[in-house]
Amino acid sequence: MNASRLVARAPGRVNLIGEHTDYTGGLAMPMAIDRYIGIDAEPADRVRLRSDRFEDVAEFDLGAVVDDVTGWARFVAAVAAEVGGESGIDGTVTSDIPSGGLSSSAALELAVALALGFDGTPRDLARLARRAEHAATGVPTGIMDQLCIATARAGHASLIDCNTLAIEYVPVRADVAVVIEFVAPRTLVGSEYATRHDECLRAEAAIGPLRLATPADADTIADPTLRRRARHVTTENERVGAFAAALAAGDHVTAGEIMADGHRSLRDDFECSTEQMDQAVAGYLATPGVYGARMTGGGFGGCLVAWCDPDAVVTGTRVRPVGAAHRGPAPDVDGSST
Ligand code: GLA
Repeated sequence: MNASRLVARAPGRVNLIGEHTDYTGGLAMPMAIDRYIGIDAEPADRVRLRSDRFEDVAEFDLGAVVDDVTGWARFVAAVAAEVGGESGIDGTVTSDIPSGGLSSSAALELAVALALGFDGTPRDLARLARRAEHAATGVPTGIMDQLCIATARAGHASLIDCNTLAIEYVPVRADVAVVIEFVAPRTLVGSEYATRHDECLRAEAAIGPLRLATPADADTIADPTLRRRARHVTTENERVGAFAAALAAGDHVTAGEIMADGHRSLRDDFECSTEQMDQAVAGYLATPGVYGARMTGGGFGGCLVAWCDPDAVVTGTRVRPVGAAHRGPAPDVDGSST
């Protein structure tokens, strides 16, 4: 490999359970998946990246103001501003992460930061990428996506405490298939994500931090909308703990039921699903060999995730848990580098 090449690779993620809990410091359980964004570049005095997904080229001078940059280049510019180095990159971005719920933007942020020479811990990398996401989109997203992708362990899901950023890794057994299926396009920009975030803050003003509250506490909130939002978050935090225990015990039936409960809660209490998504999830739940299914990610469209017997006949794609974003090329199957 040419010594001056700057190569970085970051996986997408699928959230198994723990949706809309991260920005109130709750629990989530995502896993990084074997779908990647890769960057192959050379050092340069500005940033110039071509993409196999988008026609426009991300091109700007170091020190560019993020608000002056449009399209996917905005994410790149926001990361470059955060990394703040004196050297740019010139190269290509490739991606096989389906867009809409699998954190392709977080993967892009991490890959760009690594290619630009970010130097720090995986948690610092996740925090930097989250700040870049906020600068690029204005959406007040949590830390789950970036932290999962920065710290993932192959073969495992990550039980994340979004308050302390502590992570417990739980093996995903070979006798279960994690399946994703794209349902409908979506972007969180312009969605009700920010409204939900605000509603959670208002619920916290009534009963204190949601990460410490119980569903019984949530039921004391007078405003019916805020009560439902808080009920989702408090029951979802409980579901994450129960799901992690079921996963560790290899109890796929219980894990699947918890996922299906999580979907109902997102649909009825958090109101961030769509009719098309509900139908797709119902179709999975009625399929032999499917233990559970739910929308995954921020919602308002996007992808579903299903927990299935490996022999179940479903239309989605099986994904496998992989390790964290890294500099350098993909490791060979035997673990060595190409
Ligand atoms: C998006 C955000 C995450 C998280 C999820 C919902 O993926 O980027 O921080 O809030 O939505 O769980």
